[in-house]
Amino acid sequence: MKLKSQINQVIKEAFSKAGIDHEPMSVTDASKAEFGDFQFNGAMALSKKLGKNPREIAADILNHLDLTGVLSKAEIAGPGFINLWLDPLWIAAQCENALKDSRLSIEKRETPVKVVVDYSGPNMAKQMHVGHLRSTIIGDTLANLLSYLGDDVIRQNHIGDWGTQFGMLIAYLEMIGEDGSVSLKDLEQFYKDAKRRFDADEAFADKAREYVVKIQSGDAHCLALWQKFIDVSLGHCEEVYDKLSVHLTRDDVRAESFYNDDLPTVVEALRAKGTLQESDGAQCVFLEGDEIPVIVQKGDGGYLYATTDLAALRYRAQKLEAGRIAYVVDARQAGHFKQVFRVAKEADFVAPEVMLEHVGFGTMMDPNGKPFKTRDGGTVKLIDLLDEAMVKAKDAIKDKESYSQQEIDALAKIIGIGAVKYADLSINRESNYIFNWDKMLSFEGNTSLYMQYAYARIQSIFRKYDGKIEGEIIIGDALEHRLSTMLLRFEDVLNRAAVDAAPNQITTYLYDLVTLFMRFYEQNPILKEGVDEKMKMSRLLLADLTAKTIKQGLALLGIQVVDKL
Ligand code: ARG
Repeated sequence: MKLKSQINQVIKEAFSKAGIDHEPMSVTDASKAEFGDFQFNGAMALSKKLGKNPREIAADILNHLDLTGVLSKAEIAGPGFINLWLDPLWIAAQCENALKDSRLSIEKRETPVKVVVDYSGPNMAKQMHVGHLRSTIIGDTLANLLSYLGDDVIRQNHIGDWGTQFGMLIAYLEMIGEDGSVSLKDLEQFYKDAKRRFDADEAFADKAREYVVKIQSGDAHCLALWQKFIDVSLGHCEEVYDKLSVHLTRDDVRAESFYNDDLPTVVEALRAKGTLQESDGAQCVFLEGDEIPVIVQKGDGGYLYATTDLAALRYRAQKLEAGRIAYVVDARQAGHFKQVFRVAKEADFVAPEVMLEHVGFGTMMDPNGKPFKTRDGGTVKLIDLLDEAMVKAKDAIKDKESYSQQEIDALAKIIGIGAVKYADLSINRESNYIFNWDKMLSFEGNTSLYMQYAYARIQSIFRKYDGKIEGEIIIGDALEHRLSTMLLRFEDVLNRAAVDAAPNQITTYLYDLVTLFMRFYEQNPILKEGVDEKMKMSRLLLADLTAKTIKQGLALLGIQVVDKL
């Protein structure tokens, strides 16, 4: 049940009855309670077209507006706005329907779009660091959301598993003569050790270079070593995915190396199109208006990051038949994506109607506003950060005595990981943001704990009540009217967030919802002695729908709730 489209429909009917032969503008949320629930601002725009003054047009629409179903009241305001109030009986019925449905009446798209979401994409030669956190969780949320709304989502983990550094790494792995399970535990250290050897030992450096050539030409021994290396490294990433409850599996991995065989084909196809130009021995595509060309093949024959992305675009559009391809990658790669998208379209690798988007995000900063680093200036390993989150979360648990050790551990994971994820997802993804433990682990403000606490509080009401809940929702006062209307807005919020690839629209909504619920709960007691039985039922139902909405909203962000906190 998309709320706005229902209201738009009523307006549309009024237009047709009034003989206004134009498509009405969509209604907007009213900015203040005194302006009703929604506002129609389209009369002003029609004024020129119809040669009438906007208030006159508004009056004409109003005269034909059906105030017997969805809406109960409408008023003209200002230069020609129409303020609209939803009918409380209608709202109540919609909320009751939502409660009866496991999807809370949220519709699935009738014609699913095939969407590729490219996210996480760590580099196998390095440990996953905090920079990969954002791609991993924003991407996962987007994939969850689109698939919940009915799209056919294909998750793609474009891991960096190819490049000259692997020659050195596998030569070193072979040299220390173990299977990697120990030495690769700390990839950062392993890389440093290999590099030190490379710089100090001429024979080793030669071997490393020889191994680069050998992997590239498909030498079985070197490929086996490489495969081993990738397996162990990917295993580290999977530990992180598991902690984060992110839905990425080995099946979703389409590594850079996956496209190796396609790279010459991509270059050939560009050549055939006549778009290639040689510059300093390299094969380049010059795009109109861009100074820097896209280099697709170096003078020595080697391929580049862009070449692999062109091959991936071609694969995704042609083999996977995607209608939308979203890249959840650091905003600093914006230039890269702009260019490869253009080349892919101009070369017909991707049909014109396929939507290509770079879902960029800003950098995570430390509390001093500097890029996030360890004390000695190194990159912060993601796994360490998540472990720390769980340790800190234990302190946030209120009465520890009432839980077993096992329960505390499970709770710490839900709270700690939830806090890290929520803090990240709740800011406009394009901004840089300051990582702050105290803020993210607070019970107040726009945090996951605030939401989890509200959810648990509602569950405690149900534990206390412990009876049968039957009856209907009665919109008794303005606060109940606002709360129930807010609950019905959920679907519109999800759809907007999906279009804009903006998880923070979901968190903003949840925050507003929970804040409103807390006010409602303070002013409208539920279980208190003397509350009319019918009102008690109605409020229990509203509390239930609020809890279910919080749970669903958080689930899309990959955050769990608990019944007791
Ligand atoms: N491995 C890259 C990095 O760490 C991210 C890959 C993003 N996906 C892509 N198709 N380029 O920066």
